[in-house]
Amino acid sequence: MASFSNVKQLFDIQGRNYIVTGGAQGIGFAIVHALAQVGANVVALDIQTKPNADFDSVAKQFGVNIRYVQADVTDEKGLGAAFQTAFGILGTVHGLVTCAGIALEKAFEQTSWAECRRIQDVNVTGTYFSAQLVAEQFKKQGTGGSIVLIASITSHTVLPQHRMSAYGASKGAVRMLSQALAVELAGNGIRVNSISPGFIDTEMTQEVRNKNPVMVDIMNKTPPLKRIGTRDDLMGAAVYLLSDASSYTTAGDIAITGGLHVQMALDCQLAF
Ligand SMILES: NC(=O)c1ccc[n+]([C@@H]2O[C@H](COP(=O)([O-])OP(=O)(O)OC[C@H]3O[C@@H](n4cnc5c(N)ncnc54)[C@H](O)[C@@H]3O)[C@@H](O)[C@H]2O)c1
Repeated sequence: MASFSNVKQLFDIQGRNYIVTGGAQGIGFAIVHALAQVGANVVALDIQTKPNADFDSVAKQFGVNIRYVQADVTDEKGLGAAFQTAFGILGTVHGLVTCAGIALEKAFEQTSWAECRRIQDVNVTGTYFSAQLVAEQFKKQGTGGSIVLIASITSHTVLPQHRMSAYGASKGAVRMLSQALAVELAGNGIRVNSISPGFIDTEMTQEVRNKNPVMVDIMNKTPPLKRIGTRDDLMGAAVYLLSDASSYTTAGDIAITGGLHVQMALDCQLAF
């Protein structure tokens, strides 16, 4: 008789401890919520003075330890101190998800040095050093661990009617960073993967739709699955990549785009 692992146990991360950057709202908060639902403890780091109104009720709702630490991922000293605080709260850390990010929809010729630098600083350098801080901790613990970087569909393709060259460049860097770290850290039992969301309904994309109503149709009609993604659509992939169910998965990228990263819907007719 064939003998297999228990799949439920492979997905079980109850009692494990994670850090989520950008966890105050949006995709980051959804991942904090998903981890709490499955019984994990989380420290969320974010630049905002306080997280969204629902944050504080999550710990009580699921009987786990969910804490918030204010941190700017571009501030070398502040980020180091915030990670030390998180390690102190959590004890042994099992994984990191980097969601802190900013976007800019602007023509290439009009993008300034300051805007371009800020995007690379938050999205690339902030992600780079968040990963470095947790990798050092895994090595100190002698445990290995899982790092999940939030890249973007813009690391795969150019979005219809979008001008996001600085953002796309940053997310291409994040996806490649995930592969480089996966190879460099594999010997320490540290896995590194990325998730590339497509159009997901968050505060970030709501702002884009508010500024430019044509984006409502683009976000809902261009993905082959014919709808905008929700934050729920990302939860399973995050839990999978942090769990032992993905123990042979490293240097991977899960594109969660409704199919848009390979093709616009065949029957998509938009009046551009
Ligand atoms: N929403 C989408 O459609 C979509 C698609 C692809 C990729 N993404 C990526 O997913 C991630 C989360 O996006 P979102 O839609 O939830 O956006 P969001 O704006 O709702 O959340 C981003 C979070 O990052 C935090 N942040 C920004 N700068 C920071 C800094 N310097 N230090 C610490 N925290 C900082 C913000 O305060 C915010 O809480 C981002 O990296 C984004 O690029 C989003």
